[in-house]
Amino acid sequence: MRVLLLLIFSNFSFSVKVTQPPTVSSHAGDKDVTLHCEQDDSQYYNMFWYRHSTSSKMQLVTYSVGKDVWNIEAPFDKSKYTMSRPDVLNSTLQIHPVEAGDSAVYYCASSSGGFGNEAFFGGGTQLTVLDPAHQITEPQEVKVFEPSLKECRNKKDKQRKKTLVCVGSGFYPDHVNVIWKIDGVDATRVDAKSIYGVATDSAAKMDENNYRITSRLRVPAERWFTKNRNFTCIIRFFDGNTTTDHSGWILGVEDTNKGALTRDNYLKITQSAKLSYGVLIIKSCVYGAFVVFVVWKLQGSAGKHSN
Ligand SMILES: *[C@@H]1O[C@H](CO)[C@@H](O)[C@H](O)[C@H]1NC(C)=O
Ligand SMILES: *[C@@H]1O[C@H](CO)[C@@H](O)[C@H](O)[C@H]1NC(C)=O
Ligand SMILES: *[C@@H]1O[C@H](CO)[C@@H](O)[C@H](O)[C@H]1NC(C)=O
Repeated sequence: MRVLLLLIFSNFSFSVKVTQPPTVSSHAGDKDVTLHCEQDDSQYYNMFWYRHSTSSKMQLVTYSVGKDVWNIEAPFDKSKYTMSRPDVLNSTLQIHPVEAGDSAVYYCASSSGGFGNEAFFGGGTQLTVLDPAHQITEPQEVKVFEPSLKECRNKKDKQRKKTLVCVGSGFYPDHVNVIWKIDGVDATRVDAKSIYGVATDSAAKMDENNYRITSRLRVPAERWFTKNRNFTCIIRFFDGNTTTDHSGWILGVEDTNKGALTRDNYLKITQSAKLSYGVLIIKSCVYGAFVVFVVWKLQGSAGKHSN
């Protein structure tokens, strides 16, 4: 059965659709929790359950080669996992009893017969095992920090970029997504042409009692230097039952630093300003004298004519 491990992880083609709910939560100490999966092509009669946690790579847990048959893959054990395959198109994975260490993403996959055939994966179900002693808490604070001055001064970088940092904190459990919006438009969906860059922690971190997550948004400098442009960071929080949004924002500023003055430049500029002001005064003096002279000459000649 080792061969099954060689199945290709594929997200690119979808000849069969594998569907699983994105999130499920349970409590440590619960008798069991059941994860569901469906696929839509009865030619794909092999189905698999994989487990992927932050502390371990993708591992095959159970597999089935048809209706009502299934098996377990070592080191996993039937005392802990039960797969069901009531129909070629359906499968469940039951975990019993539920323990804190069961928090992970569980992927369902299916493949058509034959060794080495490509397997198609569902989007994965994130199982969160809640600690019954821990109170569910929505994000207490979402803060967006402006780009650091150091980055602002970096003028070597031709395509100047600014990095905004968002910190959402004080929540439990750690079921969150981070979304960035610029003047209400989603900046998180990054494609090849995108001028934005988003980097979010792969997992929330335990901070004292609750979780905290950090995300960075990189934008071209001129986007940041637009007065009152609204940069909003949304923490989408799932409490095990409902999803709520929690946002923080910061407004863009004018580039007061434009043509930034270093001390040397400042001195040079003030020197040359003084100099050109002096020249201007001299010029205007000369000009003034010239005007006086012309007027005087005109007056003189006019006087002569009138005589
Ligand atoms: C398979 O799942 C679908 C959707 O949940 C359901 O309608 C159908 O009855 C299931 N089939 C079996 C055999 O459980
Ligand atoms: C910025 O945008 C968010 C949501 O898009 C909104 O709730 C907030 O009021 C805006 N802030 C300002 C100062 O306009
Ligand atoms: C889940 O959310 C719905 C609607 O927000 C609410 O009516 C229901 O009581 C919640 N269930 C639990 C178990 O919290």
